[in-house]
Amino acid sequence: MNGMLNVGIIGLGRIGCIHAENIIHNFQNVRIKGIADLGLNDDMIVWVKNLGVPYWTKCYEDLLADPEIHAVVVCSPTNTHWTIVIDCIRANKHVFCEKPIGSSIREINDVIAELENSINKRLKVQIGFNRRFDHNFQTMKKTIESKQVGQPHILRLTSRDPSPPSLHYLKLSGGIFFDMTIHDFDMARYLLDDEIIEVHADGSVLFDLRLRELDDIDTAVITMKTCQGAFVIIDNSRQAVYGYDQRAEVFGSSGQAVVTNDTSSSIVVSNKEGIHSEKPVHFFSERYKQSYITEMQQFYDAVLTDKVVPVTVYDGLQAVKIAKAAQLSFKNNRRVNLIEISDNEDADLKNGTILEKTINQTSTNRFTIDSLENGINLHEPVP
Ligand SMILES: NC(=O)c1ccc[n+]([C@@H]2O[C@H](COP(=O)([O-])OP(=O)(O)OC[C@H]3O[C@@H](n4cnc5c(N)ncnc54)[C@H](O)[C@@H]3O)[C@@H](O)[C@H]2O)c1
Repeated sequence: MNGMLNVGIIGLGRIGCIHAENIIHNFQNVRIKGIADLGLNDDMIVWVKNLGVPYWTKCYEDLLADPEIHAVVVCSPTNTHWTIVIDCIRANKHVFCEKPIGSSIREINDVIAELENSINKRLKVQIGFNRRFDHNFQTMKKTIESKQVGQPHILRLTSRDPSPPSLHYLKLSGGIFFDMTIHDFDMARYLLDDEIIEVHADGSVLFDLRLRELDDIDTAVITMKTCQGAFVIIDNSRQAVYGYDQRAEVFGSSGQAVVTNDTSSSIVVSNKEGIHSEKPVHFFSERYKQSYITEMQQFYDAVLTDKVVPVTVYDGLQAVKIAKAAQLSFKNNRRVNLIEISDNEDADLKNGTILEKTINQTSTNRFTIDSLENGINLHEPVP
């Protein structure tokens, strides 16, 4: 490697362009050797040429066959991540994969198995949970760690987009829990340094009727419980008319800490009409600009100095398990314990149906479930 890292980028859409520009403008020891996009067109080629990238292709396998490429940044649609990551590992390439790594637990377990069985034990795979690297959320993490709010009791995460993405994007996204809330699931684990054990998710189509045909929703509210007994409350909307709304509040035994939105300036104008301040910055490319650079910096550092990546496949797996629990909860309108989310997803869905029937036949409103290996046992809670 000689201190210089050659990367390939797969997928040159919204996030692929952000990562490509960041590499060109921020990292002296990283070079883009090639770019692959299945839908490569003349505009993309002009853009890629202007960046000074040596070659471009429609076929990502071309990048994997290039022995000079050390690492690959996967920015293709969600439904392609799993297979591409496995192909990258087989081709002995380090991988930075955008979130989520897959939408099935079996797929992610295949990635883990591939990584464990790979001859190169130094291969790195990092998942693109960029919010961990945001300046506001990093400060909140340090505040929690230093016990300034004491023992966390409630974490609230608000995550609302300014407008929904294209229908094409939505179709390949895996649905709101896997595409959007997945960031919040990861943030909850990261900020609280705790695991989620229970999820209840609800949602509606309130404005984007296209989503009905996709069996998806535009608005979601999720409540979760952690191993330590803390609560997490998440609200998502695909459309906040005032901009990209990204806030967090942690309430604990000694106080509370709040992260508000970033604005383009902090000016507040007061006049006889009222008191006015700036709207939140428009979308993820502005709000999380620096976080995309920092996460990539840490990925390259991990590769070049053989360190553990800051966001592992395990983190990717946990977030997907929570998303699966949220989906099951939403579909069956009940609380879901994470132990219900097994590696056998067909069984999960079947169990969901069985459990739902059982629950409907009872008058109690709360159950715990154990021993999925030996079948499902429903228990009324200890009062
Ligand atoms: N971390 C973040 O903040 C963030 C933000 C946006 C998107 N994402 C994730 O990044 C991924 C891409 O999102 P996007 O908004 O850039 O999507 P996009 O639709 O804008 O771009 C995807 C690109 O991938 C190309 N593509 C499709 N199949 C391909 C294949 N097999 N090989 C090579 N290229 C292929 C498409 O032609 C398109 O140009 C999604 O998984 C999404 O969840 C993450």
